[in-house]
Amino acid sequence: MMRIGIIGMGYVGLSTAVVLADQGNEMVCVDVDMKKLEMLKRGKPPIYEKGMEEMLNRNLNRMTMTADYKDLADADILFICVPTPTKDGRCDTSYVKAAAKAINDANLKGIPVIKSTMPPTAIEDVSKVLGKMPVMNPEFLKEGTALEDTIRPDRVVIGADNIKDFEKLKEIWSFTNAPIIMASPAEASIIKYASNSFLATKVSFINEIADLCERIPNCDVGVIAKGMGMDRRIGDKFLNAGPGYGGSCFPKDTEELRNLARNIGRPMNIVDAAVSTNCRRPVEMVNKLKELMGSIRGKRIGVLGIAFKANTDDTRESVSIKIMEELVKEGAIVVAYDPKAKATIEGINQVNMKEECIRDSEGIIIATEWEEFRGLENALEGKYVLDTRRILNPELMDPRYFSTIGRGKETSKKAKTTY
Ligand code: UDX
Repeated sequence: MMRIGIIGMGYVGLSTAVVLADQGNEMVCVDVDMKKLEMLKRGKPPIYEKGMEEMLNRNLNRMTMTADYKDLADADILFICVPTPTKDGRCDTSYVKAAAKAINDANLKGIPVIKSTMPPTAIEDVSKVLGKMPVMNPEFLKEGTALEDTIRPDRVVIGADNIKDFEKLKEIWSFTNAPIIMASPAEASIIKYASNSFLATKVSFINEIADLCERIPNCDVGVIAKGMGMDRRIGDKFLNAGPGYGGSCFPKDTEELRNLARNIGRPMNIVDAAVSTNCRRPVEMVNKLKELMGSIRGKRIGVLGIAFKANTDDTRESVSIKIMEELVKEGAIVVAYDPKAKATIEGINQVNMKEECIRDSEGIIIATEWEEFRGLENALEGKYVLDTRRILNPELMDPRYFSTIGRGKETSKKAKTTY
């Protein structure tokens, strides 16, 4: 087992820390946020992730929470997991560079390993601060299944410029039994950007197919997705049509890849198109509601779901929030409910019970696919309903008051058999 440093205790840092602690490693977790460190010391994760609280508390005795880089003195590995936000469309690596400088200033000997997503050019800059090329070990964890994706990744990508660093990282992740991709740091960076951008493109693709299905009688995008997904070259994941993608990664990573490509003079035309399709969707969702109920000015609209997707409390780039901002712009009175996410947005009243959100609303939008929103068909009787996540059974809804994604007018029944 090793002594491993984690710098930055966000979704990636915390998931990496608890999983590697659970494997028996000694973890030294560094963050600048004292409040967050205090919560972690008490076994309270600052984020909602299924299984996180239990795994954190099971391993607290192997985890040192600190703000002092000197505590990393004898760490073999230093995972840098700080944010790399997008600023003016560019990857802001100031937090990574600050971590690199602090590593240098503390004269730390551990192998610097970057998990934060950043382009190849930025890796070069950071290597100058570190005085050596760091290892790139991008994460592929999805929020909501962060621990599962860390313990059982589809692959481990290790971008290293020397075999010693590569072997060390291979040893750390050997417990996953996942295939290892040996890459250069630049290749590891592009694998991350290309994977996320491809997934975002796949989502925008199925959303456009859904728009097509809405205009073809007896055509449902769910059936199309099923028929497509059984082709192993396509795969059945990320073919759920919806209100568009959000989250802290797809919007950011697609933006940075497009920038990188444009600056090199080879624009990513396909990703450009996927992003513009996605950007139009929140307004398109509000238009679908207006097609259903006419003007929404002065009307009370209940929005079920604030988080950018189910099983997380994260609202970063949440499409639900973008939809609510559009509703407010159109003069609607918006009330929102989410089982986990908190959103302080101008002009939105957040309530603690979905029944309260539904009760006095004329129109309802299902914006996040929380399990507890399934089976609401009866509770929504008499309301205008826009189901942007296709979780209600359309056959139980009155078509005069119901709209969803990707479902053409039904003019004839298809043979009803149960497979
Ligand atoms: C993503 C990548 O999946 C992950 O590998 C990377 O490490 C971080 O970014 P995340 O953003 O947590 O993970 O969520 P993800 O499950 O990928 O969903 C991203 C967005 O796409 C969400 O808004 C989700 O609602 C939307 N989505 C996803 C769809 O609309 N349809 C789908 O079929 C899948």
